[in-house]
Amino acid sequence: MELLEAIRTRRSIRKYDSNKDVPKETIEKILELALNAPSAGNRQPWRLHVVRNSSMKKLLCEAAFGQTYIEEAPWVICVVAVPEESAARYGDRGRNLYCIQDTAALITYIMLIAREFGLDTCWIGAFDEDRVNGILKLPTGQRCVAMLPVGYAAEPRRDRPRKPLKEILTFHE
Ligand SMILES: Cc1cc2nc3c(=O)[nH]c(=O)nc-3n(C[C@H](O)[C@H](O)[C@H](O)COP(=O)(O)O)c2cc1C
Repeated sequence: MELLEAIRTRRSIRKYDSNKDVPKETIEKILELALNAPSAGNRQPWRLHVVRNSSMKKLLCEAAFGQTYIEEAPWVICVVAVPEESAARYGDRGRNLYCIQDTAALITYIMLIAREFGLDTCWIGAFDEDRVNGILKLPTGQRCVAMLPVGYAAEPRRDRPRKPLKEILTFHE
């Protein structure tokens, strides 16, 4: 699959085929490639926690207010920000803005590269952050920014409407 095709076909998938496994090596390949994502000052203020353990996925699902697809997918990639690694160079702007932008870029790379491998994902941001940080046993200060179930879709990809470009675009020529 080419990148543009991956961009066109990426859609949030909320039902996964729990009988269709994804090899660990595929997840490693996706993540290795995703590390090409940009980050402010190339600080790479992130950590990745990849969960396959069923009881942990159940806890993550509960912490995300029962979003069941977290349990269904064979893998859940948790993208964690390390604000102090950005703050060390950029102060508050690094702590509050860059590390979040950096992890968002990484998340997007992971989602699109997963599509390249014929896989689907969903960006999950609605969860009790303290609970998730605790389940992942993150050191103080690290923050789970998003959880991404990764697996094979068991529902059609739905096109969700986008605002027309005209409505949101301003050229300054
Ligand atoms: C910051 C952020 C948080 C999101 N949180 C959730 C979430 O908790 N649960 C969920 O099912 N989808 C979540 N989504 C997915 C969006 O609902 C979805 O991307 C949007 O509706 C557009 O649909 P599409 O991804 O299929 O193009 C989130 C997306 C983003 C960018």
